[in-house]
Amino acid sequence: MLGWSRTFVPRSPARSPPISNRHFEDKGADYARYRPTYPPALAAALAGLAPARTHAVDVGCGNGQLSVLLAEHFQHVSASDVSADQIANAAARPNISYNIGSAENIAAPDASAELICAAQAAHWFDLPSFYAEARRIAAPKAAIALITYGVFSADGPAAERIRQFYWNDIHKFWPEGRKHVEEGYAGFDFPFAPIAMPALKIKRDWTAADFLAYARTWSATKRAEKAGRGDILQKFETDLLGALGPKTRMKITWPISIRAGRF
Ligand SMILES: C[S@@+](CC[C@H](N)C(=O)[O-])C[C@H]1O[C@@H](n2cnc3c(N)ncnc32)[C@H](O)[C@@H]1O
Repeated sequence: MLGWSRTFVPRSPARSPPISNRHFEDKGADYARYRPTYPPALAAALAGLAPARTHAVDVGCGNGQLSVLLAEHFQHVSASDVSADQIANAAARPNISYNIGSAENIAAPDASAELICAAQAAHWFDLPSFYAEARRIAAPKAAIALITYGVFSADGPAAERIRQFYWNDIHKFWPEGRKHVEEGYAGFDFPFAPIAMPALKIKRDWTAADFLAYARTWSATKRAEKAGRGDILQKFETDLLGALGPKTRMKITWPISIRAGRF
């Protein structure tokens, strides 16, 4: 039995994220159901960076979208998220310990993790504090990887309407951190020896209903609704169903960007 195969107690109580970052607190079940998941090749490429396969840490893990894939490669995965609702809806595995906690106060022992990851989450973190914690828990020659999937493209008759929805209708409702996702984290301060990573993609064949359910998990659509602009989503729904009907599937593709480095 590994020393860390239990839920760690953080060194001090996890700090709450700033109010502006609380976009995931009441949508854990929808998030688990409607967000795209990663290709197994991503976890294989990440595991290939680690000097050993005993302990990986997934910070801002959501429902465990990446954690479950890492669990195929590592003896143990410590996965954490500030949102209790995300953790309550996380995918259980015998070798994953989930806990509620922040990237700025990671519940893992010093020098214990050979791989430290954050998938579609680092743009919410206080990066200097997260990096300090990552350095504390990094085992010798460990790797760090920040993964993001950027702006999708769609094919078929609804492609242009979807593009307009993203860039014209809803774009102003994204929180500021979204620009880092759109840039593939290229603008992040990343003080580690860089490691080149393969270009990977997420691909799905989705109906209009699948896409609309995904769009409803975005912080931008939630903020639009809170601002009294639910009509934007309703109009988009009408147009998308008009273009595709209920059954036609379209190919949606997201490019995956990875900033990877060694400590
Ligand atoms: C877009 S979701 C990504 C979830 C999952 N990793 C994935 O790839 O789908 C971002 C997650 O980061 C979490 N988060 C935001 N700020 C955080 C912080 N400072 N520390 C830990 N988690 C945080 C949110 O609660 C949310 O679950």
